[in-house]
Amino acid sequence: MSIIIDGKAISKRIRESIKRKVDECKMNGLIPNLSVVLVGEDPASKVYARNKQKACKEVGIKSTVVKLEENTSEQELLEIIYRLNQDNTIHGILVQLPLPNHIDEKRIINAIDLSKDVDGFHPMHSGMLMNGQAILEPCTPKGIIRLIEETKQNIEGKNAVVIGRSNIVGKPVAIMLLQKNATVTIAHSRTENLAKLASTADILVVAIGKPRFIDRNYVKEGAIVIDVGITSVNGALVGDVDFDDVKEKAGYITPVPGGVGPMTITMLLENTLIAAKGAI
Ligand code: GUN
Repeated sequence: MSIIIDGKAISKRIRESIKRKVDECKMNGLIPNLSVVLVGEDPASKVYARNKQKACKEVGIKSTVVKLEENTSEQELLEIIYRLNQDNTIHGILVQLPLPNHIDEKRIINAIDLSKDVDGFHPMHSGMLMNGQAILEPCTPKGIIRLIEETKQNIEGKNAVVIGRSNIVGKPVAIMLLQKNATVTIAHSRTENLAKLASTADILVVAIGKPRFIDRNYVKEGAIVIDVGITSVNGALVGDVDFDDVKEKAGYITPVPGGVGPMTITMLLENTLIAAKGAI
């Protein structure tokens, strides 16, 4: 039987500490302020944006959602970003993804002022992460590392397999695990014999967006299993890992919901605080 890594409880503890630091900032006349830009009507994005605002409120961070029509042009969106870049009262800018197809996501992300890129998606931040100089790290990978650290198991020298190679989760989390001296393999949809590879992992991070894809045949006895997937199936949120099948075999496992999800938002709050303090 594995130990469940309770992302919700861990988040709660970290958010309490963030709240204390936000209070200190406020006593010094600094009100940390996040601007969330939401374009269009994607239902999931609306929920994410609302959850981010709610979390900000809980810790005392000011936040506003800039809500734009689906047909907003790329140029209009760029001009809004430039305005937010120049606004000294705003410390963090987050453009909720995905954007409508007619807008080039890369161009928009590249336009965000580096010091306000609390998502850590700007290519300069990716480069800094690569060199071990990261200041604003992407939120989901940062949260995953914290969850692994919570197990108090050594990362150094362990085999880590990351399934998924996205720019926002798979690649950065692999780099972070490498920096902690794990031996890291990145697997993806074209990887041959995935189960054989995954079952060598002491640390298995799964971010593929395929509900319950990973069963016990992919998992080494005693492994730390981090499930990043979150898909709505018949109204329920389901991870990439078949939790019930894997839970007897893994040493530690994150649930869905209540694992990685709350940590992503918590790391966004932490990044907003870092940006507000002008540490970058
Ligand atoms: N869409 C899904 N996840 C994220 C995220 O972490 N940040 C942003 N900006 N958009 C997302």
